[in-house]
Amino acid sequence: ALERTISIIKPDAVAKNVIGQIYARFEQAGLKVVAAKMKQLSRQEAEGFYAVHRERPFFNALVEFMASGPVMIQVLEGDNAVARYRELMGATNPKDAAPGTIRADFADSIDANAVHGSDSQENAATEIAYFFPQTDVYGR
Ligand code: CMP
Repeated sequence: ALERTISIIKPDAVAKNVIGQIYARFEQAGLKVVAAKMKQLSRQEAEGFYAVHRERPFFNALVEFMASGPVMIQVLEGDNAVARYRELMGATNPKDAAPGTIRADFADSIDANAVHGSDSQENAATEIAYFFPQTDVYGR
């Protein structure tokens, strides 16, 4: 089915100047960019976005890292987009990520892991709405 998911190119990958290389992978996988913006998150914005992880031991480090520099945020649309994008990203920890995935190729650590993606359609809808008003999403 046609789905949407959120993608965030994290501060480490933006700093490495690999936004274009990561976008090329979306396109090659048949995922269309239907909304996009570059933004430096405040701590408060990062905390709100990752609220589901509030109780996790890595929460503070995650928020600090995500607010440390600009990120590139986009909505991807395509057939089976949530799972397809998760395959492209590879495992959360780059040490476990399959060869040829975004995290295997561009991530340095479980914290600086290059990209974020929604883990379900339900979370995708929440995450998209967090950053983009409906009028700024140009999908089907
Ligand atoms: P992301 O997909 O953005 O969702 C939450 C982030 O927390 C995750 O990627 C990792 O970068 C970071 N993180 C740090 N430690 C862990 C951990 N032990 N388990 C899951 N995520 C972690």
